[in-house]
Amino acid sequence: MNQPDPEQRTTAPDGQPEPSQPDWRREFPIDTVQDNEVARRDFTTFMVLTSLAFVVGQFWIVVQNRFRGQKDPPAEKAIARVNEIPVGGTKLFHYPGEHDPCILLRVPAEPGAALEKTILAYDQKCTHLSCAVVPDLEQGCLHCPCHHGCFDLHSGRAIAGPPRRPLTRITLEIRAGVIFATGIELRTV
Ligand code: FES
Repeated sequence: MNQPDPEQRTTAPDGQPEPSQPDWRREFPIDTVQDNEVARRDFTTFMVLTSLAFVVGQFWIVVQNRFRGQKDPPAEKAIARVNEIPVGGTKLFHYPGEHDPCILLRVPAEPGAALEKTILAYDQKCTHLSCAVVPDLEQGCLHCPCHHGCFDLHSGRAIAGPPRRPLTRITLEIRAGVIFATGIELRTV
């Protein structure tokens, strides 16, 4: 018994060659070999488009990072008077925008330490998943209640729990008894 030729192509009803057939007939062939060709071509197209989308996405991230670094520094802002914040005291404020919660702290200092060393400010958003950190002066840390992350009070570095990156520090200046927020110090370690 003769085996059917696997490469055999079914002739279209109008008898015309394959290239002159309408798109729908070429996209949905009857023969297995041609059907496999279409599937391979569709798969290749899918892979090329997916790779292209990936490359465009990476390029977009690079461009965004570049422009983020070139933004104007935030304007300085008076946030408290020194005598409002006793040692061990804290104050919440917003900087640089009204939707950016931050925390100001006055920590106990070594005798003779400069006042500037005892007044610190951090972005209040935890670097894990952005919950608000709260000071725990007894433990010497800023505690994140969501997953029990802890940040060192003096440096803002992550010391326990899931966070890996330090808190963003707000730079301060003290002039004539007034504390000014003057900028943002992004850190990775
Ligand atoms: S959000 Fe702070 S530890 Fe998870």
